[in-house]
Amino acid sequence: MKTAKRLEGMRESFIREMTRLALAHNAINLSQGFPDYDAPPEVIEAAKVAVGSGLNQYGITWGTPALRQAIAETMARRYDLSFDPDRHITVTCGVTEAMAVIFMSLLDQGDEVIVIEPFHEGYQPQIKFAGGTPRFVALDAPDYVLDSERVRAAITPRTKGIILNTPHNPTGRVFTREELEGIAGLCREFDLLAITDEIYDRIIYDGRQHIPIASLPGMAERTITVGGFGKTYAVTGWRLGYVCALEPFAAAIRTVHDFTTICAPVPLQAAAVAALNLPESYYEKLTRDFTERRALIMPALEALHFRTHMPEGSYYAIADFSAWNFDGDDYAFARWMPAHLGVAVVPGSCFYGTPGLGKSTVRFAFAKKLETLNAAVDRLRAYRG
Ligand SMILES: Cc1ncc(COP(=O)(O)O)c(C=O)c1O
Repeated sequence: MKTAKRLEGMRESFIREMTRLALAHNAINLSQGFPDYDAPPEVIEAAKVAVGSGLNQYGITWGTPALRQAIAETMARRYDLSFDPDRHITVTCGVTEAMAVIFMSLLDQGDEVIVIEPFHEGYQPQIKFAGGTPRFVALDAPDYVLDSERVRAAITPRTKGIILNTPHNPTGRVFTREELEGIAGLCREFDLLAITDEIYDRIIYDGRQHIPIASLPGMAERTITVGGFGKTYAVTGWRLGYVCALEPFAAAIRTVHDFTTICAPVPLQAAAVAALNLPESYYEKLTRDFTERRALIMPALEALHFRTHMPEGSYYAIADFSAWNFDGDDYAFARWMPAHLGVAVVPGSCFYGTPGLGKSTVRFAFAKKLETLNAAVDRLRAYRG
């Protein structure tokens, strides 16, 4: 008996394999993008209270009323976006479930979705599971500028939408208003949907502003906005995300979500309300902390002869290791690092759909305590002398 054809050529996530390799070699794990510090105490406490007060059964499939209300208020306050919590907001098991559900609710067999590469590795299998076909458009190193003419060239009569992840994993780009206008113009011209992944909207540097593409003229009705709690509040294991979309997309997304997971973890949704109620000082500290982490890791990588692009948002650094004169590709380099350098990273080509791209790069994740990053830099320096 064979497994489904749609799985052909797919394997488990290489990122999780790198985490296992890190454990096997006792290496410092800068591969998978999760923090090694804990969530804010108020949020942890809220989760404990929720579990202790009987919030332990199925909840309303699209999310608790309090959390949907809090998300709607946040979107209105921060981005001037108007969503009705009773109709337009669905709480999901992370951004991962959100994206899978969106593709299943939008795509018919053979429909195409434009994916800007490099990209978060979940999109490609999720599009395929839904019967769709990804069409890749590359951002070029070293600046990774989003060129709307390249996107235009990838549009066909089967194109249904484009995924836009900003702040971007893995390049650290925060797309500018001009870049987003270029994509919005194409969405309006060709009647396409923008499917966003804004999980890093609060992790942004140097006073830059996150601009949701839904806030651009004519885009609210053709954008599906996705966000998450895992990164901003250091709770990646809680599996909480959300989708904001107008009709007819909202109802379709709710139907697929209902029959995929029933609901996201109910007590943790109560804690997510506490997270959204944190004072502004939490985000100010978040920005200061990430700026410090970036200031530690980036010059160190450059000094170690990696060529990098300074992240404008998110918490990743793409590093080109060509100057190491390593005899092998990015997979070989990433498999060699934990054993010989004691640091685990992700091969760059994991983030591309076009064969051959990203082969001289690896990705470092720096959502780590300063002591962890210092220890990693010491290990790299010790090897390079
Ligand atoms: C761009 C991006 N989207 C989605 C995810 C996964 O989000 P979640 O843990 O909420 O499923 C990640 C995790 O690294 C990510 O970097």
